[in-house]
Amino acid sequence: MVQQQQGFFRWLELDWQQLSSSGDVLSRLWNDDLQGVMVHGVYQPEQLSALSRGLESHQPEFLKTWFPDVFRSWFYGRNLNLTGPDLGDYFDEAEQFYRHLQQWSPEFVDRIEQCLSALSGGLSVSAPPGPNAAQRYMFTTLRGHDPQGYIPAHCDNEFFLRPSYSHLAQLCEPHILSYVLSFAAGDAGGATEIFDFKQSLESARLISDDRYGDKPDIAQLESIKIRIPAGSMLIFDSGQYLHRLTPLEGQSRRWTACSFMAKAKQSNEIYCWG
Ligand SMILES: [Fe+2]
Repeated sequence: MVQQQQGFFRWLELDWQQLSSSGDVLSRLWNDDLQGVMVHGVYQPEQLSALSRGLESHQPEFLKTWFPDVFRSWFYGRNLNLTGPDLGDYFDEAEQFYRHLQQWSPEFVDRIEQCLSALSGGLSVSAPPGPNAAQRYMFTTLRGHDPQGYIPAHCDNEFFLRPSYSHLAQLCEPHILSYVLSFAAGDAGGATEIFDFKQSLESARLISDDRYGDKPDIAQLESIKIRIPAGSMLIFDSGQYLHRLTPLEGQSRRWTACSFMAKAKQSNEIYCWG
């Protein structure tokens, strides 16, 4: 396990085999003692090629939804931030999405829950229940980014301001972390860039909303760019720290799974959703 500091960014790198001795790393992220954690070897190369083939060929036939067109990116699954306020068919879609995840990689959800649980010092990690006890939110989304694809700078804590979070916001603390697990990193570019700019929970607002004119000038900010290797997972305080996906270069796609995490309000566990 290696701790390193690059400017403002203090982060740990560890291998899958070191997870059980990692301690409560997620609390260190929530407390801003660490700014990032990279876990290597979540998937091995031979597993990655089969998983990436399934993603490229859209097998199984996951629900496909889109970022705004200019981002040249899409989801398998439905991103809660881009969902209507009443959640409509969301929970029916979620059950179908779980079935497809199971077909694609039978141990995927267990594996990620196990990883995040170890990084929390042993807490339970699961998708939050929906308004009806039998319902559950989508545990993750899978994300495809075409060449030139990108995501502009934003802070994830603003998500709780969105109408689609009205139920989930009652269950979770408002400070969000997230993980990005890479299945294919693309040829070049496609880095997760994290800026030395923190937005407090109190001042959370929709930086990604173009109606706001006073956005931070990212050209003036110190940052770290991390290209997440295939098979590795980056976890960071995406809630408070401004971040973006830099444009993909070359000819091949970037494929990831990405989820948000927050502490449950009523129990000592962590909720994880896409
Ligand atoms: Fe984000």
